[in-house]
Amino acid sequence: MTEKLKDIKKQFPILEQQVNGKTLVYLDNAATTQKPISVINAEEQYYKTINSNVHRGIHTLSQLATVEMEESRKSVQEFLNAKKDYEIIFTKGTTDSINLVANGIENLVNEGDEIIISNLEHHSNIVPWQFLAERKKLRIKVIPVDDNGDLIMDEFDRLLSDKTRIVSINHISNALGVVNPIEEIITKAHKAGAYVLIDGAQAVSHRKIDVQALDVDFYVFSSHKLYGPTGVGILYGKENLLDSMKPYQGGGEMIKEVTFEKTTYADLPFKFEAGTPNIAGNIVLKNAIEFIQAIGYKTISKHEDTILKYAKDKLSQIDDIIIYAQKAKYCSGALSFNLNLDNVHSSDVGFILDKQGIAVRTGHHCAQPIMKRFGIKGTVRASFAVYTMKEDIDKLIEGVYLTQKMLK
Ligand code: ALA
Repeated sequence: MTEKLKDIKKQFPILEQQVNGKTLVYLDNAATTQKPISVINAEEQYYKTINSNVHRGIHTLSQLATVEMEESRKSVQEFLNAKKDYEIIFTKGTTDSINLVANGIENLVNEGDEIIISNLEHHSNIVPWQFLAERKKLRIKVIPVDDNGDLIMDEFDRLLSDKTRIVSINHISNALGVVNPIEEIITKAHKAGAYVLIDGAQAVSHRKIDVQALDVDFYVFSSHKLYGPTGVGILYGKENLLDSMKPYQGGGEMIKEVTFEKTTYADLPFKFEAGTPNIAGNIVLKNAIEFIQAIGYKTISKHEDTILKYAKDKLSQIDDIIIYAQKAKYCSGALSFNLNLDNVHSSDVGFILDKQGIAVRTGHHCAQPIMKRFGIKGTVRASFAVYTMKEDIDKLIEGVYLTQKMLK
């Protein structure tokens, strides 16, 4: 398997380069994954051959671009096992998808309703709900986490009530890599009569998602964390809910008829796709999905779990290191740690690792509440992809030893 995956690594030209005189060790995949050559070529090909606007032209190029984009939508539908292709909305990214729902759902909530999120959320799954809560006079409640980084599910049970209207939780924490029990959350939230949004930004590249099996109301993710282009996101939503939601943005292509007195809206999915979309990006997402499917999630998950375990084992052998969520029930894709040294910030560690060609993310990872929960300002986060090899982890470990020596 590793040999086969080593060949896959060769599909990523960026990984062959030197950074600061060292072969790049790219461990910032939770921020964005690198792109395989098939995705890079497809984007170039689009601009070289069929670039034109979609759903607007009678001419040949416009027709071709429209067909390609709608085929890509269908490939996302199959990828997520959604019932209908028009339950797939193209957005700018996960953040945009969550904002769309937090706006569009406004007419389905009432003053006094409650929204449940968790202590593990990224800011993009906190702030849009705060905006909604302010506008509609709702209350936000937060599921706490225990010292291992796991959600305290008894507290979730306690927070749920007939006032709960929305539960919005990440599938996998971007800051700690903790995998949340979303199946249980969805079942319980539905019993209480709430809608559920799952932020899958950190999950889609690691795990097969089946929105019908999950029975989730909304599932959102970004293409760029799935080996695809930036500026492209997906909102999956159940047809009946999307139908009853109000449009998020007004503009071209989202309308049926416009007069100065009244505007009627287009059917799904176009009601939520005002303006010219990221056509090339939306089309090329299909190539990213094909890249994943050619390897298969079974292989991907097994490999990435092995890498995570290897990294955790090796890192925990280093003295004076704090690993977060080390004892969480289940983690995937990312590992957060700090050096246990006075006056050393995670950014100091990240800076020295970078000089060794090792790319990690440092700081609060846009998840300040979970940093506060652990009484820290930030962490060093190493995050993995299908092309991460044990040799990359060995270089990280060497780098951490060297950094520790330099900072002591
Ligand atoms: N949300 C991305 C991360 O966790 C950018 O790094």
